[in-house]
Amino acid sequence: MSNFYLTTPIYYVNGAPHIGHAYTTIIADAFARYQRQQGDDVFFLTGTDEHGLKIQRAAEARDISPQELVDENSAKFRSLFDKLHLSYDRFIRTTDADHKKTVATMVERMKASGDIYLDTYEGWYAAADEAYYDESEIADGKALASGAEVEWVKEESYFFKLSKYAEPLLNWYKSGPDVVTPTGRRNEVAAFVEGGLRDLSISRTTFSWGIPMPENPEHVLYVWVDALTNYITAVGAFDDPARFAKFWPADIHFIGKDILRFHAVYWPAFLMSAGLPLPKQIVAHGWWTNEGVKMSKSLGNVIDAFELADRYDLDVLRYYMLREIPIGNDGNFSDERVVERNNAELADNIGNLVNRTFAMAGRFIGGTVPAPAPLEAPEDIALRDAAVATREAVDQAFAARELHRALEHLMAFSSEVNNYIQRTQPWALNKSGETARLEQTLYNALESIRWIALLAAPFTPDASRKILAGFGQTSEDDLRFATLDQWANLPAGTTLEAPGVLFSKLDPPAAEGQEKAAEAKPSKKKGKKDASQSDKKKKDDSESTGLIEFGDFTKVEIRVCEILTAEKVPGADKLLKLSANVGEETPRTIVAGIAKAFEPDELVGLRVAMVTNLKPAKLFGIKSEAMILAAKTTDGKLALARYDERVEVGTRIS
Ligand code: MSP
Repeated sequence: MSNFYLTTPIYYVNGAPHIGHAYTTIIADAFARYQRQQGDDVFFLTGTDEHGLKIQRAAEARDISPQELVDENSAKFRSLFDKLHLSYDRFIRTTDADHKKTVATMVERMKASGDIYLDTYEGWYAAADEAYYDESEIADGKALASGAEVEWVKEESYFFKLSKYAEPLLNWYKSGPDVVTPTGRRNEVAAFVEGGLRDLSISRTTFSWGIPMPENPEHVLYVWVDALTNYITAVGAFDDPARFAKFWPADIHFIGKDILRFHAVYWPAFLMSAGLPLPKQIVAHGWWTNEGVKMSKSLGNVIDAFELADRYDLDVLRYYMLREIPIGNDGNFSDERVVERNNAELADNIGNLVNRTFAMAGRFIGGTVPAPAPLEAPEDIALRDAAVATREAVDQAFAARELHRALEHLMAFSSEVNNYIQRTQPWALNKSGETARLEQTLYNALESIRWIALLAAPFTPDASRKILAGFGQTSEDDLRFATLDQWANLPAGTTLEAPGVLFSKLDPPAAEGQEKAAEAKPSKKKGKKDASQSDKKKKDDSESTGLIEFGDFTKVEIRVCEILTAEKVPGADKLLKLSANVGEETPRTIVAGIAKAFEPDELVGLRVAMVTNLKPAKLFGIKSEAMILAAKTTDGKLALARYDERVEVGTRIS
């Protein structure tokens, strides 16, 4: 077992948490979960950055103390991360007592190296960025990089001899292939250092909300000296040598590209000065835009992280963000793309695979995991090999910090398992009574699903847990990658419990005009759906000859029915013949015009709404004894009115 220490930036508490804060922390969370599944002792750190001029000014504006302000705002970040189920091990605050102590010791050590001296600072400072800028980096009173307003400051200041570290920094960038990734970012930072480094002003006298300079409390420390040090506070630097040796140097600092210079130049220089080892890797991610537009407070298009967490299931949000763009790239957040990826990849690929396999296992082999047979059939061997290759590809993708690739491979494997089912046709094997082969194919599909659940767990932890619970596996150990050391570790005889709907299909987002019309409606996706359905109903009513009495409605018996079998009707390419449990002793037969929209076996096991008191009708010589309810989707396909297992078969819908 090894140790693994990973961090996110600590977030400024002067605004509400937005998508960017959620994103960095979700990336780190996926890695933390992956390393835990490897069996590592993981320490995952996140938190808030609470000192500085900006905070002091914001508190003054509200006539409260800075401490009150940061307590209030830090709690928002923490509650966001809890809402997102992010598995951090410590939420650090720069106002924590141990942090203040560590910063003081850090600065004393830098001083002891002869790297700190007192002088006068004169130059441009942007409070919004808490950064100093050169003349060449500003125009029209604003920092070119961020657009933040700069002000001329002149004051006595302590300086850090950053210039001394140019050479050691350049050597560090060359010391391994990826101490700073992506490579483009490493080159960018190396070019900055090659351009020459000036000593850094590290204290201020014009405000007081910060950690005092040791031995001269007139000065407070520059926020970045304070903030960056959080990474060593959290692992016991200077007060817990054993713990510090265990976790430091950090394995990965995840950051956004905008704060690269602080992490890849200042931070390693501070550490070298203090005689401490350098982090193993800095991974810089790109920025999200909102539907193609850069987010900014002035445009009012910043995506609120809480709102995002309300809008989508957590797994779907994580999947989308980690799948849509490679970590180093910028990306465009688009609701339409979230829906597309959810529907096509999560619901139709993985969700459908799990659903159909558990349903067939329930139907055909009594809902128990059969004994695995030796792999002989070429398609069985190919499936096992694909599983092993997928695990290797996922490991490689994590090692290369390319999470989108891990998901690409996982989706490809899930498609392959779906194809395996298509080719081996368990429903046909069931019909022809080839029990041994039927059991083999279902075992292989179930074992594949277990592999998918484990490999997907860093991305979709809730769904993975549900799948594993379907195998009766609920402990931490069941999630360990060690259980993928060989094929067929899924124990025979396990009772299967269908996990229900893992990923519901989502409606495409409303277009601009529709959005306005729906303004007063609840924003949750389910709410949206219901609201639009009831709208449609009202419209239909007003267009018809009149409203119906409640008594008329109660005449229609609509029940939740479970589809037991489904097959094509020879000679009728639109029709499927279904048998369904409608809550009576014997199943009913239904002929439904849904063959163009569904493969027969994907329907098996579904709980759907059916009208069960229509007069029977004969279609293609088959008596149809109920009517399945479906709605046309915007792309001309069909969606069924579906229920999960919380609703008992036969329940009347009223
Ligand atoms: N407090 C400093 C970090 C100190 S670390 C020792 C800070 N805080 S921040 O709250 O402004 O930003 C934190 C992170 O959010 C950064 O990694 C930044 O890249 C990220 N994001 C801010 N806006 C973003 C997007 N639009 N998209 C993605 N991430 C972005 O900087």
